[in-house]
Amino acid sequence: MSLSQFQAANEERRRVYHEADVVVVGAGVFGCAVAFALAKQGRSVLLLERWLKEPDRIVGELLQPGGVSALEKLGLAHCTEDIDAIPVHGYEVIYYGQGVNIPYPPNAGAPPTKGSQEYTNEKGGRPEGRAFHHGRFISQLRRACASQANITIVETEVTDTITSEHKPQVLGVKSRTLNPKTGEKEEDYYFGQLTIIADGYASKFRKQYITKQPIVKSKFYALELIDCPLPAPFHGTVILGDASPVLLYQIGTHETRALIDIPENLPAASVKNGGVRGYLRNVVLPTLPQQMQPSFEAALEDGKIPRSMPNSFLPPSTQMEKGVVVLGDAMNMRHPLTGGGMTVAFNDVVLLSDLLSPERIPDLGDTVAIKQAMKDFHWQRKGLSSIINILSMALYSLFAANDRQLSALKKGCFAYFQRGGNCIDGPSSLLAGIIRQPLVLVYHFFAVAVLSIWLVIQDTVGGFLGLWKLPLAVEESIRVFYKACVVIFPFIFSEVRT
Ligand SMILES: Cc1cc2nc3c(=O)[nH]c(=O)nc-3n(C[C@H](O)[C@H](O)[C@H](O)COP(=O)(O)OP(=O)(O)OC[C@H]3O[C@@H](n4cnc5c(N)ncnc54)[C@H](O)[C@@H]3O)c2cc1C
Ligand SMILES: *[C@@H]1O[C@H](CO)[C@@H](O)[C@H](O)[C@H]1NC(C)=O
Repeated sequence: MSLSQFQAANEERRRVYHEADVVVVGAGVFGCAVAFALAKQGRSVLLLERWLKEPDRIVGELLQPGGVSALEKLGLAHCTEDIDAIPVHGYEVIYYGQGVNIPYPPNAGAPPTKGSQEYTNEKGGRPEGRAFHHGRFISQLRRACASQANITIVETEVTDTITSEHKPQVLGVKSRTLNPKTGEKEEDYYFGQLTIIADGYASKFRKQYITKQPIVKSKFYALELIDCPLPAPFHGTVILGDASPVLLYQIGTHETRALIDIPENLPAASVKNGGVRGYLRNVVLPTLPQQMQPSFEAALEDGKIPRSMPNSFLPPSTQMEKGVVVLGDAMNMRHPLTGGGMTVAFNDVVLLSDLLSPERIPDLGDTVAIKQAMKDFHWQRKGLSSIINILSMALYSLFAANDRQLSALKKGCFAYFQRGGNCIDGPSSLLAGIIRQPLVLVYHFFAVAVLSIWLVIQDTVGGFLGLWKLPLAVEESIRVFYKACVVIFPFIFSEVRT
């Protein structure tokens, strides 16, 4: 049988008999990328998505340089083209009206240097991120999958997994597909040697296969600003003050996304105080740079309650079930403050497709080999994912400071950035998904803690005449240091467990 006959036979097996090597549930960020990567290796893939219409969501709009680089490795770099994407060169952090610029580090592209061994980009120059409308990007990814001869995409809502009667092994999935003739949804079945579930943050299957469940402490409310002049064009903007953090980035020629973090049960956003809209107008608006205020106000004018999404934390876990793996947001989530979700997803796909390659695992039905590969995956992905997970959660704790010690750490963090040099190159490389050494994160975090303590001592003692206040300063320093540990260690522990 020639290759084209073989591929045609596989296509028929998928279309008529609903059988493939791999069944992927969810054609989102992770699902599309993994389907594409495995198909390129010659696997026959069924990609199942409940809704193939272009998504309209407020998530996944900024891709860090480390994610762009992973997309290039997957052969999907063209998906950020022709969607009016905006280049991102770094961040601008504004603390009580004062700004500091944090560009992605120079010379982090090829050739690889110490600390960036695995980071390369096509142009070999300064790292660049991309911001875009999520739906347009997803449509591009789906188009890339649709034009892949080894993938068949089906619009169907997966409702359950199918388990073998003889042994505890998943054989495929059950779903509901709309019959266009009758207008009714009909039961449907799809079979694969391996089922990859990537059904996103509200995963239907997580409870069944993962012991950990997400924790939600705040939500991001979203506005779309039109022609908003950013203080630093082509940079993500983070606004810090008394309120919880606000994030802004341009996602199209005329559109800028504003994401406003609102902790659960925040009194300032209670109904009595005018609800979310009252909070945005009375508390958030005045903290924005003057030039941005008119477009922010205009976006509020439509009178609707802005759209929102929960900001979840879900530490990663290994999986032991046979024939099925749960990945993407369904398996691991972090606060979207640092825009790292898609970067984790694409790097996961690069690693996973390497571990599952036909050279290593000729037959995806080999559950012993898959189990070992998933164990390796769990530990090997940490070089990048644990940094992005811990950084986002720790930074959010500081930026949303709600006590004196956290506020001291937040102030120290900003002062750290103001020092420039390695104090911004290090953190920005971590955030960008360029550095893959978790210890570098721990180093910078504690450097921030030490600087915060120094500032606390200075503020308390003042000068020579204030020396009598030294014991007070020491006491507060210990509290700040203790707080820094309480902030970061639980997130570190959540990464070293299975
Ligand atoms: C407010 C917010 C902002 C964010 N901003 C960023 C950002 O700027 N940058 C970034 O990198 N990350 C960001 N993220 C994170 C990012 O969105 C996720 O990490 C990423 O989308 C995860 O990809 P996924 O494929 O796991 O899930 P998704 O992209 O959500 O894909 C899941 C897919 O599965 C489909 N599906 C679900 N259930 C079924 C079913 N039963 N049957 C069939 N199909 C199904 C869905 O329709 C969807 O297409 C943000 C997250 C939030 C909450
Ligand atoms: C599709 O799979 C075949 C093997 O079945 C492989 O030879 C081919 O390279 C794959 N096609 C693409 C476009 O990657």
